[in-house]
Amino acid sequence: MLDQAYIPFAVAALVLGLVKVIDDYIRDSKYKLPPQVPGVPFFGNALQIPPSQQGPWAKELADKYGEMFTIKLNGQTWVFLNSSRVVYDLMERRAGIYCSRPPFPMPQGIMSGDSRIVLMPYGEKWRGVRKVMHNILGSRQLNLYKDFQELESRHLLYNYLHNPDRWFSANGRYSNSVIMSVVFGRRSDLGDPDVEELFETVEEFLREQQPGMNLVDGFPILDNLPKPLQWWRPKGQRIFEKTRNVYKRELDRLSAKIAAGTARDCFAMEFLKTINSKTDETQTIFTLGTLMEAGSDTTRVSLGQIIAGAATYPDWVVRAREQLDAVCGDAKRLPEFADRKNLPYITAVVKEGFRWRPNIAEIGVPTLLIKDDEYEGYKFKAGTIFTWNAWAISLSPKEYKQPERFWPERFMNDDLNNALKGHWAFGPGRRVCAGWSVGESNVWIAIARLLYCFDFHQVPFTGNKAQFDVDIKVRSEAHAALIERDCSEAVNTKY
Ligand code: HEM
Repeated sequence: MLDQAYIPFAVAALVLGLVKVIDDYIRDSKYKLPPQVPGVPFFGNALQIPPSQQGPWAKELADKYGEMFTIKLNGQTWVFLNSSRVVYDLMERRAGIYCSRPPFPMPQGIMSGDSRIVLMPYGEKWRGVRKVMHNILGSRQLNLYKDFQELESRHLLYNYLHNPDRWFSANGRYSNSVIMSVVFGRRSDLGDPDVEELFETVEEFLREQQPGMNLVDGFPILDNLPKPLQWWRPKGQRIFEKTRNVYKRELDRLSAKIAAGTARDCFAMEFLKTINSKTDETQTIFTLGTLMEAGSDTTRVSLGQIIAGAATYPDWVVRAREQLDAVCGDAKRLPEFADRKNLPYITAVVKEGFRWRPNIAEIGVPTLLIKDDEYEGYKFKAGTIFTWNAWAISLSPKEYKQPERFWPERFMNDDLNNALKGHWAFGPGRRVCAGWSVGESNVWIAIARLLYCFDFHQVPFTGNKAQFDVDIKVRSEAHAALIERDCSEAVNTKY
């Protein structure tokens, strides 16, 4: 039971929330926003936004309202940017003022102890963590990843051959093991309960940070309520503890190996040497944990995406195979990174996979405008939230010919080797994904090898996430023999 003494505080917070909405309304009249989607008083459009798969919902609005529209989510104003043109003009060319994050008291404050980089406001703290990310994920480090990607993708093929029904878990193991090897110096196994638990925490985080999910994120003023009155807090605290334990377990494991003298060289070992008594422990744990989180789910989902594209639009697979067979022969050897220049079609397949269904951020990731701005007759107030409407842009016929089709040829152009050009899967501007080059190469080597060795056939579709059924068969006896010959050792390599 709540203490009755708190009731006046609760009423005061709600009144303040209401006053803020009215005040915003009056002050908003000085500004001019893109067409506003009709909503209801107080909650705005928060009751219309679906709890998941928000991409198709936001696309419908884009089809109706054009290049920009405005919605109100509880107390906040969101402007959706629905064309590459406006995303480029605002979030890329004016990146310096479109790069902060709105407050997220639930997923960032409580669930992440204010320590997850992806939701940090622009400023000193974000810059510090971003620098750490850059040191480990920057394109200069790509060679460090190659040996692990090479080994782990062999393991992936072996899993597909022997456990085709567990292909989605195999993608998860592959993605996780690459980043774990670099950061913590250890590999992960198929069905590893630690990996499964990591993915659970990712899902919890993604669910809770969805717009409209938590009232306090729409009315951050509620964060001032006394803690016992914050009905969302116990749940957030539980998720925080679980997530922290999942991350800390890896650090403890590494510390034990360091003490025993059995640790392999890895990024976390170097990072721990830079830590002193002033370092915030939760921040250290979340910086290293974010690498596991961001590095695992994204690659897993992107691979699933291309497999869905192969099963539903098989015509392009034939063309990918022609190029793979010309370079690697008939089950003679696996594709390698060194073949990249002779396999431009695979690079286009990877880009098309990122575009085709932007599942990782269906309606983009919100950024906060930090200074008043004007654009094409509109006047935006500092504090307005902007997002790139990823689903709407990716599936717009004004942006892409036959957008529904998985069609890698659309990327066979002068920008082929610029992984960021032609789609927004890694986000725009200063908050662009810190791990894009690792992510792109993860997907490239895995998909080149999978397409070379396996056939993917559609079985009735169950959704537009990667968790669908697909019938996977090795291409030929010769390809099976190649996998047995070249990949079993990868499965038996332990560290
Ligand atoms: C494989 C495909 C990947 C995709 C499609 C992807 C996508 C994204 C997106 C959409 C964002 C948000 C961008 C924004 O706010 O504008 C992001 C941020 C981020 N990603 Fe990725 N990502 C991928 C792989 C990775 C990998 C492998 C890592 C690290 C191991 C990583 C680390 C990060 C980090 C640290 C951020 C936060 C950046 C910041 O807020 O400053 N990503 N990613």
